[in-house]
Amino acid sequence: MQHKLFNLVTQTAKQSKDQAYSAIQPARYLKARNKKQVGQGKTVLITGASSGLGEEMARLFAELGYNLAICARRTDRLEQLTIELTDSYPTIRVEYKALDVSDYDAIFKVFKAFKADFAQIDRVVVNAGVGESRRIGKGRFETNRRTAEINFVSALAQCEAGMQIFRAQNSGHLVVISSMSAMRGLPKHMTTYGATKAGLAHLAEGIRADMLLTNLPIKVSTIYPGYIRTEINTNAKPLPFEVDVDTGTKAIVAAIEAEVDEACVPSLPWSIVGQAMKHLPLSVVNKIS
Ligand SMILES: NC(=O)c1ccc[n+]([C@@H]2O[C@H](COP(=O)([O-])OP(=O)(O)OC[C@H]3O[C@@H](n4cnc5c(N)ncnc54)[C@H](OP(=O)(O)O)[C@@H]3O)[C@@H](O)[C@H]2O)c1
Repeated sequence: MQHKLFNLVTQTAKQSKDQAYSAIQPARYLKARNKKQVGQGKTVLITGASSGLGEEMARLFAELGYNLAICARRTDRLEQLTIELTDSYPTIRVEYKALDVSDYDAIFKVFKAFKADFAQIDRVVVNAGVGESRRIGKGRFETNRRTAEINFVSALAQCEAGMQIFRAQNSGHLVVISSMSAMRGLPKHMTTYGATKAGLAHLAEGIRADMLLTNLPIKVSTIYPGYIRTEINTNAKPLPFEVDVDTGTKAIVAAIEAEVDEACVPSLPWSIVGQAMKHLPLSVVNKIS
């Protein structure tokens, strides 16, 4: 009974921490952290840093003083980003490496190599992902399988590689980039994509539960972005509540810096939409997907 009560209190405290994040104004919060250069001497590893959210997160973390370990397949872009960041922030160190996350062995090799470069990795952002997914039963199994592998199995390998480093260090912050599409099963081209992101969120929650159980000082954050205009949705028509990459990434980085367990970003409207999605009939959820 006492155990149950303790859990309830802890849970409530956690919820209020996440609610406290909803009150954060990302730009102001990041400005304050920027002044303090909170990242000084720390390293963030980001996968899928060659475009979109990964690229912009690298810029924002660099501004906060973090060293960066960035990877993706398009190394020409990573090289450009490395030059830009080291020119703008001469005190930080940026290293880039080629990584195709569908090569699981390579994930472990690249993460280990970054650990050797920097001696300590303080945060891993599991961000690399693809948006291709097709209606089920229309003969596009190969596309859906590939999406499931990149967005879930590769993400699992990244979590494993990151957590091995964190367990050895006895410290670290694992961040997974899920999606608002994880809130419910979605129709059309979103079915497999949403399922992979729900799987990823569940995986992260399980790792968080394990950290609670074993009392290890490793944080785990799950970020649920709403629609943010990047290469992943280049050809999509206007999307509900969409924001530009600058606005969206500021909200993501603010949530990561606050080390929340979970956050829908930008908080408004997505934390409300998220609750609605969880409880509304599927026919209504269909209309906002
Ligand atoms: N934009 C949104 O509205 C939105 C909303 C919710 C969640 N998300 C999630 O946010 C993450 C970033 O997406 P984004 O919007 O920034 O899209 P993006 O601009 O297309 O970026 C995707 C990144 O993932 C990398 N990537 C893809 N396949 C890879 C592979 N096989 N190996 C290594 N890296 C790979 C890409 O790098 P290379 O091609 O150079 O390898 C690129 O850097 C994804 O997980 C996405 O699902 C996005």
